[in-house]
Amino acid sequence: MASAQTRLIRFEDLKDFCRRAYEAAGVLAGEAAIVAELLARADLRGVASHGVMRLPIYIERLEKDYVRKKCQLTTLRQKGATAFLQAHGSMGHVVSQRAMRLAMELAQTHGIGWVTVKDSGHFGVTGLFPMMALEEDLIGYVCSNSAPMMAPFGGKSRIMGNNPLSYAFPADQRLPVVVDFSCTVVASGRLILARKKGESIPLGWAVDKDGHPTSDPFAGYEGGGSLAPVGRHKGYGLALAHEILSAVLGGGKWTQSIKSLYEKDDSGIQGTCHSFLALDPDCFVGRAEFKQAMDQYIETVKDSGTAEGVAEIFLPGEIEARTEERCLVQGVPLAEATAQDLEALAVRLGLRLRFA
Ligand SMILES: NC(=O)c1ccc[n+]([C@@H]2O[C@H](COP(=O)([O-])OP(=O)(O)OC[C@H]3O[C@@H](n4cnc5c(N)ncnc54)[C@H](O)[C@@H]3O)[C@@H](O)[C@H]2O)c1
Repeated sequence: MASAQTRLIRFEDLKDFCRRAYEAAGVLAGEAAIVAELLARADLRGVASHGVMRLPIYIERLEKDYVRKKCQLTTLRQKGATAFLQAHGSMGHVVSQRAMRLAMELAQTHGIGWVTVKDSGHFGVTGLFPMMALEEDLIGYVCSNSAPMMAPFGGKSRIMGNNPLSYAFPADQRLPVVVDFSCTVVASGRLILARKKGESIPLGWAVDKDGHPTSDPFAGYEGGGSLAPVGRHKGYGLALAHEILSAVLGGGKWTQSIKSLYEKDDSGIQGTCHSFLALDPDCFVGRAEFKQAMDQYIETVKDSGTAEGVAEIFLPGEIEARTEERCLVQGVPLAEATAQDLEALAVRLGLRLRFA
């Protein structure tokens, strides 16, 4: 339901608006449709920090030629179950959709497929790519590096990204399990969203540029601050592993050489690197058996008894799947600030934007 601070829009209308915005910025229809689906689906699943809130900056970067309008993906190496691709600064969403598809094709042939991409760009919600593997009852995994927003554990310079990861596991009657998060306590988009809504953030999410804990979302990120790693040294260690498995493995950009979406970028290449894995359960217990065992595993976890005051144990991905089902019927709630940004974009591009 829409609240005082949100406006509802039908999923199809939101997707259609995104597609037309990309086309107006010079992106080919097929590629515009891929990004539009991914962006609108992020909001549909309740991941507002990485959905259409970013549409104005994605379009601005295309208009400024910071990002390629037509995706170019070159195979640098292909051996057995692996492929190594160069993305030449193309749109991260399109690159990642194609790279995940290739990992799945490799897994269908070899049982496992691993694709590493260099010189890509921001791809939004990590989980939407390993979720593609679910269509074929494969297991999907993606890790990536990202623009700097946190200091190394014990360090003071904001040089590292929050380098997200996501796993997607198929189930039979149950919802798939989709683990999808970054290595900071919250993603930077949550601070941007809080700043736009005029809200403060809990202490523990970020420190300001002088290293002091802050409840000001601007000071904690856009104002030069640093996001806190999840689980202290453990989140820091995971962030390192994801950057090594993507950027160091692919000889791409890492740490502070990656451009933020929000900075001037004459290089034309934001530089994010990603790795995509697809794994076939047929090489182990079998696809059908794996999915049935997943159902039993999920039930074991869900039925293990809730803590006091908690109504239900959720599996990762469950809340998003329920949100998706509900918002397909009721409409997608957009924060008022995001709705206004989209309206301004619609006026600038000469497009029609219709809320529910
Ligand atoms: N493109 C990028 O560079 C980039 C960088 C950072 C984050 N992101 C994306 O931003 C999004 C948000 O990231 P985040 O780090 O803020 O994640 P988050 O803290 O919102 O955690 C999300 C994960 O936790 C699960 N979850 C949430 N509540 C749960 C509960 N009660 N019980 C069980 N599981 C629960 C969700 O299903 C999901 O798997 C993700 O989609 C991520 O991929 C992208």
